[in-house]
Amino acid sequence: MDHIRIGEDDWSTLQANLEATIPVYDRINRFATFGQDQRWRRMVQERLPSEGRILEVGCGPGTFAENLDGRELTCLDPIPAMLAVAEPRVNGKRTARGYNPATFVEGTAENLPFEDGTFDAVCTLFSFRDWYDKPAGLKEVLRVLKPGGKIVIVDPAKMNRIHGWLGYLYMRIWVGSYARFICRQKDHPWKWLTKTYVHFGTTKDYVRMLKETGFIEVKSKVIFPGMSTIWQGQKP
Ligand SMILES: C[S@@+](CC[C@H](N)C(=O)[O-])C[C@H]1O[C@@H](n2cnc3c(N)ncnc32)[C@H](O)[C@@H]1O
Repeated sequence: MDHIRIGEDDWSTLQANLEATIPVYDRINRFATFGQDQRWRRMVQERLPSEGRILEVGCGPGTFAENLDGRELTCLDPIPAMLAVAEPRVNGKRTARGYNPATFVEGTAENLPFEDGTFDAVCTLFSFRDWYDKPAGLKEVLRVLKPGGKIVIVDPAKMNRIHGWLGYLYMRIWVGSYARFICRQKDHPWKWLTKTYVHFGTTKDYVRMLKETGFIEVKSKVIFPGMSTIWQGQKP
């Protein structure tokens, strides 16, 4: 596993662990980030076009999608159990608010099951870190975007080695202890959060990767107090 790719075996174990987080996913996120994860999700929302076709890659249990009003929304995830939780949650809220239901699709970023030029924007929240082949996934996102379409990514990248070390301690001690307490098991699935964080790259690594893939207008911003980075780019 490195900042570019995750091997097949590691990715399968990671996915099994992610599936095991479903019952406590929102609770642990809220606690671990001191409630900041919802602010980060709103920052992604604000960067998306207010109408058109939007794809969320790695929608998980629907934590972001449930609050994305309007638009024509498609949510993709490789774990059927995530989609089974996300679909009623997201579509229950959308129909209650008078919006069209979202479409739920099983698949991976690296092999998106959509035609070229389908979407006005693609977003991915706390999932990019888990993609098994990040350059291949970004290439696929570029392909399915319309010309001028936007990508928005949020995930906890590091600014430098000291920041990475502090991040490691925060995940290992703070998130790890709470997850262990909530899950009531020593070998709880959130251990993989620390593992993927350690192997995830720096903010600049992914600015470079987005540009190398062919995105233009690439920007990144480390979100105060440094627990996450938001990147955006555009298809020429
Ligand atoms: C931590 S959850 C994020 C859920 C949600 N986006 C949120 O805002 O909380 C990460 C999700 O990314 C998905 N994922 C992992 N590898 C992926 C890949 N290669 N392509 C697409 N999604 C992937 C996982 O199945 C998981 O549901």
